[in-house]
Amino acid sequence: MADTADIEGLSVEDAAEEVSRLSAEIRGHDEAYHRRDDPTITDAEYDGLKQRLRALEAAHPELIAQDSPTQTVGAAPAEGFEKVRHRVPMLSLGNAFDDTDARDFEARIRRFLNLGAEDPVALVAEPKIDGLSLALRYEDGRLLEAATRGDGTEGENVTANARTIDTIPERLTGTVPEVLEVRGEVYMSHDDFAAMNAAQAAKGGKVFANPRNAAAGSLRQLDSRITAERPLKFFAYSWGAVSALPADTQSGVLDFFREAGLTVSPAAKAVSGIEEALHHYRAIEAERATLGYDIDGVVYKVDRLDWQRRLGARASQPRWAVAHKFPAERAQTVLDAIDIQVGRTGALTPTARLRPVTVGGVVVSNATLHNEDYVAGRGADGQPIRDGRDLRIGDTVTVYRAGDVIPKVIDVDLSRRPKGATPWAMPDRCPICDAPAVREAGEAVRRCSNGLTCPAQAVERLKHFVSRGAMDIEGLGTKQVEAFWTLDWVREPADIFTLRSRFGPDGSALKRLSSLEGWGERSADNLFAAIDARRSVPLHRLLFALGIRHVGETTAKLMARSYGSWSVLREAMSAAAAAVDDPDNEHRQHLLAIDGVGAVLADAVITFFADAQDMAAVDRLLKHVTPEDEVATVAADSPVAGKTVVFTGKLEKMSRDEAKARAESLGAKVAGSVSAKTDLLVAGPGAGSKLKKAEALGIETLDEDGWLDLIGDA
Ligand code: IVH
Repeated sequence: MADTADIEGLSVEDAAEEVSRLSAEIRGHDEAYHRRDDPTITDAEYDGLKQRLRALEAAHPELIAQDSPTQTVGAAPAEGFEKVRHRVPMLSLGNAFDDTDARDFEARIRRFLNLGAEDPVALVAEPKIDGLSLALRYEDGRLLEAATRGDGTEGENVTANARTIDTIPERLTGTVPEVLEVRGEVYMSHDDFAAMNAAQAAKGGKVFANPRNAAAGSLRQLDSRITAERPLKFFAYSWGAVSALPADTQSGVLDFFREAGLTVSPAAKAVSGIEEALHHYRAIEAERATLGYDIDGVVYKVDRLDWQRRLGARASQPRWAVAHKFPAERAQTVLDAIDIQVGRTGALTPTARLRPVTVGGVVVSNATLHNEDYVAGRGADGQPIRDGRDLRIGDTVTVYRAGDVIPKVIDVDLSRRPKGATPWAMPDRCPICDAPAVREAGEAVRRCSNGLTCPAQAVERLKHFVSRGAMDIEGLGTKQVEAFWTLDWVREPADIFTLRSRFGPDGSALKRLSSLEGWGERSADNLFAAIDARRSVPLHRLLFALGIRHVGETTAKLMARSYGSWSVLREAMSAAAAAVDDPDNEHRQHLLAIDGVGAVLADAVITFFADAQDMAAVDRLLKHVTPEDEVATVAADSPVAGKTVVFTGKLEKMSRDEAKARAESLGAKVAGSVSAKTDLLVAGPGAGSKLKKAEALGIETLDEDGWLDLIGDA
């Protein structure tokens, strides 16, 4: 399991800081993985980052941004393929890391469905194939379209490539639904992978890091003749849009798939409940080495499809399935150095440079050490970690990595500590700008106190400013930002927009940059065009680009819609800043009333607008950039869309969670307490103070049946 023991002791500010840092880091890896098929960290490291983010968000739900990587899947599609919109989103799976997590999964299902402790929850346990998911649309049994997952909503049309795969039939056999979208995994076997890599190496072609990257790289070839030469295979395990389901259980659909000529993993098994599922997990784990292809766990799915429907999904993960991952691998290596990284908000993060070591088939050479307490052997709450043993340069350490966990220094072998090794000390000055690095009381993180004057912070903020979700200036990536900074050409966002005028109308100086790696002849022209295209941007892009702490893309969108224009927003925030002594002032309250905006976020926004240095930089920027006004989107077409609903008392037909999930799926907002903003109270037996308050406020009240009538579920 990822080490999350320190999380409870983190202050909200620290947690928020880490959530925003982790989110950005994960997004970068999503890019590398999904768009370029070229990850820079191991899957384990990636999963570890995500798991830690999830744990942080679980401890501080107010920090969950709607665009958090935990709420979305993968990255948007690459250029080159036609896009395909998935009629039914392609979800990802939540993880279980041990038997307890797996049993909790079953317990959650029981609670959600209001089942008794003895009611059986039949499951299907299937190997989790380590490949990439593919959706195959069949109409009248003929293969019409194949699409990758992409970001879960929109993928790439890889039909021509899919047709070259032997285990993807052109025609299904037997009686099949008119429309049937089969979903499953494309993968490459170990033998095929080794042979292909050898052949690639021999002809000087691209050699892949592992079978999954090989499968992804092979499927996403623009020339399907290349795909045809690659030994890809396909296992079916799920479905998307269907005109009529051929069975009413998961296991029934798998049987149907087999009869229709598709390949289903022979290791998939219907089981009576979680205990039998765990038994099957161990059987599959024992077979893992001889299976011939990579699997990274076992997926448990609720067998009854009517239950799957009721359980539905939370964000991008179904409640009716979980991936039980295989456990950790560990290895010993030497801690060669501890480097400090300075982030966008000035946080100094110690990073372990490890003598490269193979852990479970993947070379590990870095690990985050989080903060100085972590190095010293203390958790955030002061509790010892590693039994209080500190880490010193030269130490022999144990590195741990699960299929799911960031490489972590879990232990140190004191018997092998070099003589004279001294305790490591966090620098008290920023390694980049030498300003004092300050650790405030109650904080685990030490921060450079130099704000935007610190080059590291300024450069990181600029990188964020131009990034995809923000201003999205094509041709101005990490490398260019760093080069322009070093050349003293761009020191703050406004400078980007004066580049052309400072280098002559044709940007002649810029053109000389062709010595810069990845900077071609035409790059300057393209860059100027890309910059010009952003002289007018939707308000939400600008807001996100400003890099205000905790403001993610989704929050930026919600704020933009709520305020409508920059001038309204700016005025409200200045007023809120002027009234800091009164946390109930109407401007702060307006901000807090926006869905997904909690106190930490609101105060970060207000602080930003109150900062003279930040505002001066924004003013310089706004001489060149015009934020476009935004309008609120019209609510969906349901009787409760846009309404704020409160549930109280006992619900008899469904659990509270199920009622809430259903209401939200209809566009309602579910609140925990009654206020003047409540539109509807659903009160079951035993309702007390909330019902009284609603009556006093004249709020419409319904019982459970009335509610089901209203939403058409009766
Ligand atoms: S079911 C709604 N079953 O794992 C659930 N996924 O982390 C959809 N995967 O995107 C997925 N083997 O690429 C399912 N037997 C299996 C799987 C499986 C591998 C992959 C799939 C999915 C990812 C989720």
